[in-house]
Amino acid sequence: MKPSDPPIDFERLWDTVTHQFRCGVHSDHGPEHWRRVEQNGLLLAESTGADVLVVRLFALFHDSMRLNEYSDPDHGKRGAAYARELRGECFQVSDKQFELLDFACTWHTDLAHHPDPTIGTCWDSDRLDLGRVGIIPDPAYMSTHMGRELTGQDRYK
Ligand SMILES: [Fe+2]
Ligand SMILES: [Fe+2]
Repeated sequence: MKPSDPPIDFERLWDTVTHQFRCGVHSDHGPEHWRRVEQNGLLLAESTGADVLVVRLFALFHDSMRLNEYSDPDHGKRGAAYARELRGECFQVSDKQFELLDFACTWHTDLAHHPDPTIGTCWDSDRLDLGRVGIIPDPAYMSTHMGRELTGQDRYK
């Protein structure tokens, strides 16, 4: 984001993205999950140094184009493409920030770890919410130290 760019109106952006989501508001991969991913991401970013804007956009877009609750292997790629479609019109980020967002969304289910603190934070934020579908988050699949730490907390057991 350049200093001249207007701040992102996240409330409006959430309305837009939520409105087009096909699996319903109470979906395991829907807005309630996105909010928890955002909260996890903000918590992790305090120690990982992740780009908070990218983390918040990842939370919103990464599962936004899921077509079903089960197997949908291309949903990350479609989420990234949707973010690309709305970029400029509904939110502004720098090319570097968009590159991180694009990668994090596209590969969030296919790749396990990433050394970049922003991408790692995005993926850990998502995986820390696996408890919602009965899976205990595994520290072995966390990219950040804080992510690994949080899997040990009582709320995730
Ligand atoms: Fe996903
Ligand atoms: Fe997710």
